[in-house]
Amino acid sequence: MLVRCLYASRPTSQPSASLLSDILDQSRRNNPARGITGLLCYTQSVFVQVLEGDREQVSILLAKLMQDDRHQTVTVLLFEEIAERTFSGWTMGQVNIDLVNPGLLLKYFPKPKLDPFAGTGRTAMAFLMELVATGAIGA
Ligand SMILES: Cc1cc2nc3c(=O)[nH]c(=O)nc-3n(C[C@H](O)[C@H](O)[C@H](O)COP(=O)(O)O)c2cc1C
Repeated sequence: MLVRCLYASRPTSQPSASLLSDILDQSRRNNPARGITGLLCYTQSVFVQVLEGDREQVSILLAKLMQDDRHQTVTVLLFEEIAERTFSGWTMGQVNIDLVNPGLLLKYFPKPKLDPFAGTGRTAMAFLMELVATGAIGA
């Protein structure tokens, strides 16, 4: 049975290019065998990640993520059963939110800034779906 988990966290230090590439390398190495797909969004102060896959596999990864000291305050925004994946094309896509058109952020948030801790999980998810629709996701 497929689930989707959306969480937000705070990087323990400003995410450098090498930190992000380490995380994405790990994700792309591990996720295919576990049937996990998703998207990692980041700014200088926040991570938002969506994980899709088998309920047990997503739960195991979430437990690992909570132990990872590269980020803190891991906060689950949504955990829901899904009929189909939205991010099936990405073992782990990535989006630097600092480069996203501010108009897209204003569509969903009070300011042109991603603050998933302040809003609802549904709003954050709608924003991520818009990133898919507008082709903003890097491989
Ligand atoms: C923001 C963030 C996102 C991550 N996403 C994933 C992921 O999608 N898949 C994954 O296997 N590890 C991910 N990790 C790394 C895990 O926390 C953990 O270090 C890794 O799965 C351990 O892999 P290993 O068993 O190959 O050493 C992420 C870490 C951070 C900080």
